[in-house]
Amino acid sequence: MEKRHFTYQEIHRLARDIAFKVQASGFEPDVIVAIGSGGFIPARILRTYLGKPILAVGIAFYDLNDRPTDYPRKVQWIEEAEQHLAGRRILLVDEVDDSRITLEYCTRELLKHKPSALAVAVLHDKRKEKRGAFPAEVGPVFVGQELDDVWIVYPWDAKDIDEHDRLAEGK
Ligand code: G4P
Ligand code: MG
Repeated sequence: MEKRHFTYQEIHRLARDIAFKVQASGFEPDVIVAIGSGGFIPARILRTYLGKPILAVGIAFYDLNDRPTDYPRKVQWIEEAEQHLAGRRILLVDEVDDSRITLEYCTRELLKHKPSALAVAVLHDKRKEKRGAFPAEVGPVFVGQELDDVWIVYPWDAKDIDEHDRLAEGK
């Protein structure tokens, strides 16, 4: 599969663009919910522009015996979620909308906490047939950049960040 490397600079600009889209839309989140671990750094950059607190959730695709599973499960969720989320406007953040399975799962779980609104922001949305779907209550969905179905290499996965940046420049 074709790989596309992105530098921290590019990620920061994409997050900035998303923040501007959020502001232009009139959607004013009360709280950012980051899906770990890929959503952590994008959420932190969004906070710079939107100035809202971040709550983190963790999702895993493996069971308690470390065997891979087809569906995500919670490994970390928001304590006192009702208190933090009921009646609030949530911006759910992840790095990539790939199959949409994780995003469907997280939006369904968050809707159980009765937010007044639930929007989604992703750095990248892959143009492909999605296996998951957003519940009707979800919206708007903010996308930094649409991509074909390539393998995205994020800078936080780099062991050698200089080599990573060279590969990103060559793209
Ligand atoms: P989706 O709802 O956001 O589409 O997520 P999906 O369940 O399809 O994704 C499963 C895992 O695969 C997620 O990571 C997602 O970030 C990762 N993934 C999908 N496409 C790419 C890609 O092109 N590049 C990279 N680097 N990752 C991709 P995860 O298992 O939750 O792990 P984490 O890295 O977020 O901790
Ligand atoms: Mg992820």
